[in-house]
Amino acid sequence: MSLSAQTPVERRITALIARMTLAEKLGQLNLPTYDPNAKPSQSELVRRGLVGGFLNLDGADATRNMQKTAVEQSRLHIPLLFGQDVIHGYRTTFPIPLGEASAWDPELAEATAKFAAREARAAGLNWTFAPMVDIARDPRWGRIAEGAGEDPYLGSVLAAARVRGFQQYILATVKHFAAYGGAEAGREYNTVDMSERTLREVYLPPYKAAVDAGVGSVMSAFNEIAGVPSSANPWLTNTVLRHEWGFDGFVVSDWTSVAELRAHGIAASAADAGRLALAAGVDMDMVAAIYVDSLPALVRSGRIPVAQVNEAVRRILRAKFKLGLFDDPYRALPEVPQDKALARRAAQESIVLLKNEGGLLPIGAAAKTIAVIGPLAADTVNPLGPWSGRSRPSDVVTVLAGIRERAGPGVTVLSAPGTGVTDGDTSGIADAVALAQRADLTVLVVGEADTMSGEASSRSRLGLPGAQERLEQAVEATGKPVVLVLMSGRPLVLSWSAEHVPAILETWFLGDEAGHAIADVLFGDVNPSGRLTVTFPRSVGQIPIYYAEKNTGRPAVEGQHFTSKYLDVPNTPLYPFGYGLSYTTFAYRDLQVRKARLGTRDTLVVFVTVANTGTRAGTEVAQLYVRDDVGSVTRPVRQLQGFRRVELAAGASQTIEFRVPVQQLGLWNQAMKYVVEPGTFHVFAGSSSTAELEGTFEVVGVRP
Ligand code: NOJ
Repeated sequence: MSLSAQTPVERRITALIARMTLAEKLGQLNLPTYDPNAKPSQSELVRRGLVGGFLNLDGADATRNMQKTAVEQSRLHIPLLFGQDVIHGYRTTFPIPLGEASAWDPELAEATAKFAAREARAAGLNWTFAPMVDIARDPRWGRIAEGAGEDPYLGSVLAAARVRGFQQYILATVKHFAAYGGAEAGREYNTVDMSERTLREVYLPPYKAAVDAGVGSVMSAFNEIAGVPSSANPWLTNTVLRHEWGFDGFVVSDWTSVAELRAHGIAASAADAGRLALAAGVDMDMVAAIYVDSLPALVRSGRIPVAQVNEAVRRILRAKFKLGLFDDPYRALPEVPQDKALARRAAQESIVLLKNEGGLLPIGAAAKTIAVIGPLAADTVNPLGPWSGRSRPSDVVTVLAGIRERAGPGVTVLSAPGTGVTDGDTSGIADAVALAQRADLTVLVVGEADTMSGEASSRSRLGLPGAQERLEQAVEATGKPVVLVLMSGRPLVLSWSAEHVPAILETWFLGDEAGHAIADVLFGDVNPSGRLTVTFPRSVGQIPIYYAEKNTGRPAVEGQHFTSKYLDVPNTPLYPFGYGLSYTTFAYRDLQVRKARLGTRDTLVVFVTVANTGTRAGTEVAQLYVRDDVGSVTRPVRQLQGFRRVELAAGASQTIEFRVPVQQLGLWNQAMKYVVEPGTFHVFAGSSSTAELEGTFEVVGVRP
């Protein structure tokens, strides 16, 4: 860019860079984690201009003091970034992202992200390492809890919503670029190896949606893809992210992911690792301090062009300008009261009713004695889930408290933990069973510990941990009605429960208002409306299992041996993507495609009528799936292309309209170009990915 063509801000950046020493430049690219015991002290490094920002330094006073040091005592007065993992709330804790995704409600996702950012901002933060948008199709992977599930379309809509929400107050980071969720065998940090087509069609769209929504930064992932670690992948970061998508923010590495290039075996030394990462367009080095320590010599010897350093510095400074830090480095906002109402609504919408045999739920007036059993019934820590930030267990409404509050004085509520969450101790089971025997109904609150999902928390078995299965079986054996309330950061294998327990609620980790929201649903004050955004397998052996699979050349046919199936388990999941029950029922009719022949620039318009055929008001998540019948490359059997939450009174119906730009229906062809191919398509509308009501249309070229 010629200097005269630069905007005033770019000119200021250019002038600033011209005044910077090499050490100060590399300092801007350095992102240490806060360490009050560091030697020399981190404020001393800030004074010397060797720090671009901090992670994990928060609190209004602490950030203000450090910022003051930067802008008053460093030579060039450049303000600092303060980043932290504000994932599903800062002080007020909302449901984990996988849970909140089950609401299929972008407006909600935007609102909770905005509120979290508002609280974070009051605590001096100006940057979050969220949203995490990694598509995940393997529930063994613990970080599935942090994303929106298995689907690129839903993932994209929610990614954009979360970026919009966060960036009303702080800078957002979309992560982990790229395909971190594709780890082999669901093992954390593991190798990813996939075709460019799968990468582009399935894994990349949510990051792209975040970029289109204006996300300010992108985090490069820990994993390699097909032999190239993502923190040193010029094709990903420069070619795809910057050139194809036009991303103009900055790229930050993940925690020591630059240093880890040595363990990956593509760098022989720290300096080598830094050189590769910088050349690949990773602008900021999180925690490893390789840029600041090891690159000066390489720049001086000419092995790293100074222009490359300048470009990275420019991107960081640009973000600081965009945030307004050069005008007001503190950007202080007063604290706000916690938004309990929003937390409760988010928790209510996230709950998925998986089973409700004989209409056991909602709990009616006949239940005079209720046993609330299980290690998570009165627990105040686990409902906060992984990445709970500055949340406090004292804010958590437990399931027991929620039920007691709602049930009122006329109902006796008994409670016992029965077991721990993860240990094998069975000594409390007998007492718990005795309570179940005395009760009209048992609410069994079981699941995972919060530490079993999130980073470095992969599992190979997906049952209830510890002795909880024993507890479940013992309670079920009483013959009394049992409602299973599950907390988990991932789909669990629930085959036994699905067969034996009459009612099952998946509640994920719902955050502060867990107990209120669960009681709201249990007693029918709120009709559950959550729908799965990830497939629940029947057994671990089916993984990876997802609805948008390919047909294969030999799709499964019952009774035909040489077709694609298992000998010991059906191909179908236990609960499919998009699935979730309500206390009412919905029916779909009159699917109409407005124009059955469409050009590639047109918009597909589909009408369908949804009726509430039950006796209660309820909210349905109407879903639209499309199948491309014949392509130049194979296509998934169906793909989500639209959805809508619809509130319907008992007996009411509504005709809803889905609008899908035909451009959304393309594929990456054999020449790896995105094209919309002419041909026939099927469209399906209904309550889940198994929707049966169908129609057809044809794409006939640019102009029909
Ligand atoms: C490592 C995690 O992978 C990433 O998601 C997080 O943002 C950083 N640590 C910083 O805490």
